[in-house]
Amino acid sequence: TPSNHVRIVEVGARDGLQNEKTLLPAEVKIALIDRLSSTGLQTIEATSFVSPKWVPQLADAAEVFRGIRKVPGVSYPVLVPNLQGYARAREVGAGEIAIFTAASEAFNRKNINASIDESIERFLPVMEQARADGVQVRGYVSTVLGCPYQGEVPISDVVRVARRMHELGCHEISLGDTIGVGTPAKARAMLHAVAQEVPMAALAVHFHDTYGQALANILACLEEGVRVVDSSVSGTGGCPYAKGATGNVASEDVVYMLHGMGINTGIDLDLLVATGAWLAAQLHKDTASRVTRARTAM
Ligand code: HMG
Ligand code: MG
Repeated sequence: TPSNHVRIVEVGARDGLQNEKTLLPAEVKIALIDRLSSTGLQTIEATSFVSPKWVPQLADAAEVFRGIRKVPGVSYPVLVPNLQGYARAREVGAGEIAIFTAASEAFNRKNINASIDESIERFLPVMEQARADGVQVRGYVSTVLGCPYQGEVPISDVVRVARRMHELGCHEISLGDTIGVGTPAKARAMLHAVAQEVPMAALAVHFHDTYGQALANILACLEEGVRVVDSSVSGTGGCPYAKGATGNVASEDVVYMLHGMGINTGIDLDLLVATGAWLAAQLHKDTASRVTRARTAM
């Protein structure tokens, strides 16, 4: 990846929708992903094969994954918490998955009902199977800048869990500020510490915008050298098991900032804005993207 290119990992169809109370029909989710596929995005997280008891909104994961247009050159990873999720994902032809754990014990217990070590144990057979099947695996580490239950999360815990995920064979580790409490200097210090153990080229950042710090945090992390950024169209998102967490940083706003800095993303901002406005209408919500608000104001 040249240094003037940033890859956006669009998580709106997964992180964006998983916390929505109103159940969206599968057709709308499919339409969302198909629209995103035409914007120039290279990576679109499509859905998640978690327990439907835990995340009812994504119970239709198989139908959604089957229904989307798979554009050549675009990857459509899906979230998988265990072997059962892996089997469901593979059954519909998913070729890329993401596993997830956290740097905080308390959050992990609430989110996936396991300790950090137990979650890693659970991933071992998933990784083994993925390796045999030639499936790429991304790893998420949540609560890297704070936990809704434990508060402060030591950087050393983030480093340890990220290194472990990388050793397990994850090609990319996404560092998640699940509740959006981080600030730029802390974000940068955290990334710097992780990059001592995991190559920067294998790292991504994932900021929720709860406290309005996400763009500033992303800028700090870009300066530190990261070149993969997770975001969500229209700024939807939030983890149902992270009390008080709001949406991800809006993809439109990240792309606007990057293009303004002369950094290439390959994304057509106008198409992304149109998709964000369309999604907000589907959800009967105002968009959380400042760019989409500015561009669609009467
Ligand atoms: P559990 O209850 O401890 O597990 O949940 P279990 O094995 O006892 O299973 C309970 C029931 O779920 C069983 O059904 C299983 O068959 C079923 P029953 O026997 O009662 O009828 N089940 C499944 N069904 C379908 N697909 C599966 C599956 N697994 C079990 N894969 C479990 C443990 C991990 C399953 C659960 O806690 C879970 O699904 N958690 C997911 C929570 C979640 O999706 N959170 C949001 C994603 S993470 C996030 O948003 C953060 C991120 O964005 C980064 C950041 O912002 O920090 C990535
Ligand atoms: Mg998230």
